Amino acid sequence: MQDIRIELTQNPKPKPTDESKLGFGNIFTDHMFIMNYDEGQGWHDPRIVPFSDISLSPAAMCLHYGQEVFEGMKAYRTAEGKILLFRPDRNMARLNMSNNRLCIPLIDESFAQSAIEKLVSVEKDWIPSAEGTSLYLRPFIIAVDPHVGVHPAKHLLFMVICCPVGAYYPEGLNPVKIYVESNYVRAVHGGMGYVKTGGNYAASLKAQDEAEKQSYTQVLWLDGIERKYIEEVGTMNVFFVIDDEIVTPALQGSILPGITRMSAIEILKSWGMKVSERRISIQEVAEAAKSGHLKEAFGTGTAAVISPIGHLKWEDHIMLINDGNIGEISQRLYDTLTGIQWGKLPDTMDWTVEVK
Ligand code: COI
Repeated sequence: MQDIRIELTQNPKPKPTDESKLGFGNIFTDHMFIMNYDEGQGWHDPRIVPFSDISLSPAAMCLHYGQEVFEGMKAYRTAEGKILLFRPDRNMARLNMSNNRLCIPLIDESFAQSAIEKLVSVEKDWIPSAEGTSLYLRPFIIAVDPHVGVHPAKHLLFMVICCPVGAYYPEGLNPVKIYVESNYVRAVHGGMGYVKTGGNYAASLKAQDEAEKQSYTQVLWLDGIERKYIEEVGTMNVFFVIDDEIVTPALQGSILPGITRMSAIEILKSWGMKVSERRISIQEVAEAAKSGHLKEAFGTGTAAVISPIGHLKWEDHIMLINDGNIGEISQRLYDTLTGIQWGKLPDTMDWTVEVK
């Protein structure tokens, strides 16, 4: 394994004093991880350095052709002061899946995880302790060759930055309002919908902007061909509780394989619940809502954790789910998942990794 050089800042920033006002993604810590890739040399020169702007050529390929991938992870501070990561190996494996799709040289997953652990350890005093807060970690890779022309890059940067955060949605655990998007699409089979790359989020902005103008928090995407089958919500995977079946769209190449999604499925199954990963149409959800069989709906994501959906609008159908309240399953899932992440519940699945 390569050694990671550490250069500590001489000018530490003041840390947020009111952890109830952290918001999401606004504050950055004192240090960042950075490593270069150059053809012929591979990934090299891993270092933790003071957080700062970076210098790029205006011709850097990531700026023009979107050759970029990223991850979202969190470090949690437990009541006993331990620091935990949640399934970091899964993030590293997904990063390499994204790398593969975008012709980015693969990283050494266990080295990348150890680099993230080292960065979290350097930034440990930045990890907030108030209920519901954590240190959000954003690993990302960008193509930096100064070149106008569409080819896989030969020079890249792998970086990790950290932000102390509260809830992603201002609603917190209160149910969100979601708008079913029938006009724009996010991804199609064969495209990039199953990997974490900025282009997928750029593709979502127009619909998101229109939804927000109508006071909706996010959009629910339908499949790109028939505009019929449910895919995912802007920043989350989605689940519906229809009678005693918990349904989530199957991963068929256009949906992000969320790590919170995977963990939610494993927890629900461990409770003996019936979970189906299958195609589910918006028509089926609307009919279940109308006939009283739709009991709950919720989203899952690293940033959002578990986010109950209280209101769904699809064309002229308005579905009020569980009277706009958080459902029993959503609440139990939230309590269990966050209980494991914040070390309040035993980690019987061996999902957490302690950072020393
Ligand atoms: C995450 O859940 O970690 C994400 O990457 C979503 C992001 C848009 C905040």
